[in-house]
Amino acid sequence: MIPDDVVERVAEAADIVQIIGEHVKLKRVGRTWRGPCPFHQGTHPNFSVTPGGGYRCWSCGEKGSVFTFVQKRLGLDFVDAVKYVGQKSGVEVREVSRQREGPDPREPFWEVNAAAADYFQRMLWEGEAGQAARDYLAQREVHREQADRFQLGFAPREIGLMRAHLQTLGFDDERQLQAGLLAKRDDTEEPRPRFRNRLMFPILDAQGRVIAFGGRILGQGEPKYLNSPESPTFVKGRTLYGLSWAKNAIRRSDRVILVEGYFDCVRLMMAGVDEVVAPLGTALAEPQAELLRRYTRNVFLLYDSDTAGLKATFRAGDELLRLGMAVQVVTLPEGEDPDSFVRAHGREGLESHLAQAIDVFERKIQLLERGGWFSDLRRKRQALDRLLPTLRAVSDPLTRDLYVARTAEAAGVGRELLEREIGHGPEPVRGGSAGPPPPPPEYFEEEPPAPPAPRAAGRDRRRAPGVRTEWELVRVMLHQPTYLEMVAERVGPDDFRDPALRAIYGRIAAAGPDRTVQELASGLDDEAGGVLELLLEEDGGLESADQLVQEYLKRLQLERLQRQRAEIDEHLRIAGEAEKSELLARKQALTEESRLLGGRDWAGFRRTRP
Ligand code: GTP
Ligand code: MN
Repeated sequence: MIPDDVVERVAEAADIVQIIGEHVKLKRVGRTWRGPCPFHQGTHPNFSVTPGGGYRCWSCGEKGSVFTFVQKRLGLDFVDAVKYVGQKSGVEVREVSRQREGPDPREPFWEVNAAAADYFQRMLWEGEAGQAARDYLAQREVHREQADRFQLGFAPREIGLMRAHLQTLGFDDERQLQAGLLAKRDDTEEPRPRFRNRLMFPILDAQGRVIAFGGRILGQGEPKYLNSPESPTFVKGRTLYGLSWAKNAIRRSDRVILVEGYFDCVRLMMAGVDEVVAPLGTALAEPQAELLRRYTRNVFLLYDSDTAGLKATFRAGDELLRLGMAVQVVTLPEGEDPDSFVRAHGREGLESHLAQAIDVFERKIQLLERGGWFSDLRRKRQALDRLLPTLRAVSDPLTRDLYVARTAEAAGVGRELLEREIGHGPEPVRGGSAGPPPPPPEYFEEEPPAPPAPRAAGRDRRRAPGVRTEWELVRVMLHQPTYLEMVAERVGPDDFRDPALRAIYGRIAAAGPDRTVQELASGLDDEAGGVLELLLEEDGGLESADQLVQEYLKRLQLERLQRQRAEIDEHLRIAGEAEKSELLARKQALTEESRLLGGRDWAGFRRTRP
């Protein structure tokens, strides 16, 4: 923060004509100075600068103070802009920190992460251990100079070195554990590094402090990427990879390109496109969108050209529209991701696709039109259902109006009707029409419009009563396949009530411990696939898996017994006398079983399912 009186002194001392004159060719015209406008790249002298005042373009309307100019043209934030102008004007500008109550409590966390980043970087470039990682980078065409720019590193397979090294620097186990650099399964175990045999991407906050790591496995393996665990100082949904390097460029170009992955982000920056960031493998969250809006309102979504990429695109689109941003979609050729595309076609290739970007809502309409979704009545209803959430999300009134008009036109429905539907909220009221509901969408095999986002689906799912247990058990099975046999002996897919979790568990149990994620995912429907992704991503909190598994098994079994008893109650209501006594006996047996189970550990439990 710079005190107000200092800002004023700088403003008074600044020679705006001289400062802007370094960037724009100005000529004196009467009291003001004029030149071509740098904001709309004008050629006529419509841009005027008033000594002791501000600047203004009479053609594009851009105007502001000397600070605004420096912020926009040099991509600086306000504090840096004041410093810059101060330096040119001979006024010393010193920042004062907002709180004076000593150091930031997050300091220790940043320190240990910074030290770890150094260590990983050394491991990558010095010595034998890093050879495989160096080869991997070379094969992906990332060279030393570029790798250093992003502080890329390597976490070796070896388990004691990092710990000892960080200890000699004064970071004890406790701190390394807190930062998620070390992990241990229970209190008796020696801590081990969380990241092993991975290429390390330090994740920096907007101020350039290392707050976490993303580690990519070398070659094949699961999970492909592993992130530092979340903590109060690292929240994925509030962090954007690349922001500290991109922020000035975002301000300068007044646009940001959003990509999905670390490598995509790094590749674009390597190609000289600096205004690029990536969310951390999750759907774009609202705080991330808010973070972006501080720098620009213009977002280009550059996601993979596959179905998952398109889903993520529309989901991010809604989130950004909710905050009043302008959202464009860039479509790459089939099978390309930004990394592969830019590697092959460079910056020029990318720019030409950026130039062809279309508005996110228009892209939805385009896909629906191409699929013939406005051509018959029933399908039209479904198409509208795909558009309504976006229409409800848009907050900018002008954009909303344009979207509503466009929808009315494409679908051939009245605006009033549309407005009513938008007003109905997420579950539009349907009445009147008898008969079966319209067939499920078989359309858009390649590019379906956005279905409910997997992340939201996952959150809702876990909130459903009883599903949490199933969720957690499947999660353990995924991340710790050693428990598979024991669990498969005790519960079967039928014990799972949630259809997606039942399907995933069925795949896990069938595939055995040496399976790949691809094997698991094949044969799952979209929804279960989305849930699987979420489960894979949630790899934390499994230190005491033993206890968890026992607890979950017990709960699942209790739930099953409870269900069976409820079924008997149903039967009892309609049963004849003879049947009744048998049912009651069975019910009592089940009750006894629950009692035993409740009081004893599952290991002593006799399996009763036929
Ligand atoms: P490369 O195969 O190395 O090019 O990766 P990518 O960056 O193209 O990744 P991909 O398109 O598969 O995934 C996009 C992003 O999702 C990644 O950069 C990660 O942030 C995240 N991601 C992918 N796989 C995993 C995973 O298994 N676990 C977690 N936590 N995140 C993942
Ligand atoms: Mn990739």
